[in-house]
Amino acid sequence: MSEEMHPFNYGTVVYNATFVNREADKKRLLQNFNSGINSVLISPRRWGKSSLVKESGRLFEAENKNNRVCFIDMFSIRSEEEFYTTLAKNIIKCTSAKWEDWVKNGKEFFKQIIPKFSMGNDDENSFSLSLDWEEAKKYKDEILNLPENIATQKGLKIVVCIDEFQNLKTFRDADSFEKILRSHWQHHNHVSYCLYGSKRHMMENIFNKKTSAFYRFGDVMLLQKIEQQHWTPFLINAFTKQGVKINTEIAELISSKVQCHPYYLQQLAHTIWTIEDTEITEQVVNRAFEDMMNTNAMFYQKEAESLNNTQIQLLKAIAKGHSYLTSTATMRQFNIGTPRNVSKNKHALEYLDIIDIANKKINFLDPVFEAWFCQQFLTL
Ligand SMILES: Nc1ncnc2c1ncn2[C@@H]1O[C@H](COP(=O)(O)OP(=O)(O)OP(=O)(O)O)[C@@H](O)[C@H]1O
Ligand SMILES: [Mg+2]
Repeated sequence: MSEEMHPFNYGTVVYNATFVNREADKKRLLQNFNSGINSVLISPRRWGKSSLVKESGRLFEAENKNNRVCFIDMFSIRSEEEFYTTLAKNIIKCTSAKWEDWVKNGKEFFKQIIPKFSMGNDDENSFSLSLDWEEAKKYKDEILNLPENIATQKGLKIVVCIDEFQNLKTFRDADSFEKILRSHWQHHNHVSYCLYGSKRHMMENIFNKKTSAFYRFGDVMLLQKIEQQHWTPFLINAFTKQGVKINTEIAELISSKVQCHPYYLQQLAHTIWTIEDTEITEQVVNRAFEDMMNTNAMFYQKEAESLNNTQIQLLKAIAKGHSYLTSTATMRQFNIGTPRNVSKNKHALEYLDIIDIANKKINFLDPVFEAWFCQQFLTL
């Protein structure tokens, strides 16, 4: 559906006109892309990593005709073999103008490996490449250096963007795979890598641990939420375009309700748009928020069911605004056990991305889960 028909998008990557702000982040990424510095992007789920990288990649390619961006999503890649095949295929695709070139380039740039190409009958884009893995695994170098070799020979600057990068941890012998990647990538001068993923703690482990192969690999960016001042004009414009009245105060109420969480903000705006076509009032926002919470309730229920009783009690204390959880009074009031217990469960909740601890303050990461949780557990 077009933007006119469907002003708010959530769950998909947003770009162009629907992309809100992130000017400083885009600038920093573009600078990295241009100067060949590797980038690492870490943030909690659904704050906009994939959208930011897509948008920055689009801008980078628009800047210079010799710039190329290659996207790889590790989400469905479960083995080294799949990774190498996807890398080879996507690099060839993004550096070739049309499908005849794919085959030509594929043949030209492989010396040891003989890739097999296949083409769909009617769709020019259904190009596929496969490798005889028994043979190809002897020449991993050739595949890993493919981006650098193509970039050098064709005079290109390439950025390889890898989403859900932490998935490599699920590969067999992940540690040595990491070492191989790092040892090749650090010698690439015409190619830089932008690595990001939605499992925050796994990403932090890969990039911030001194013993990890990827320690100090690149510019680590901790992505923040988008500030209210940028959401307000976006909301006012989008609703006004649809012929729906909205004022500044209501626009601010919408972003406050979801604590400026990008995904939920779009979902809330979308819900409002489906129930109101004349003027948005506080009642409409509240009703839409309830609707949205109910829509998501099934997931929250599951989430809550996966926690043990002490963890639920701990969340209750956090929801009530307690940050000093090991105080005797708090431990007693909420029945959360010993300091050791508290600390263990707190870290478990943090690891699960349910809570966030910053400057000794503990917060729920998901504002709508928080509202649902309070409704379920604190109104007894
Ligand atoms: N710059 C933006 N402008 C407008 N909406 C945005 C922006 N960034 C993110 N969003 C909203 O948030 C949603 C999630 O964004 P995105 O998928 O890019 O996040 P992510 O961090 O990659 O998520 P995940 O952790 O699930 O991979 C988008 O579908 C969109 O609704
Ligand atoms: Mg993503």
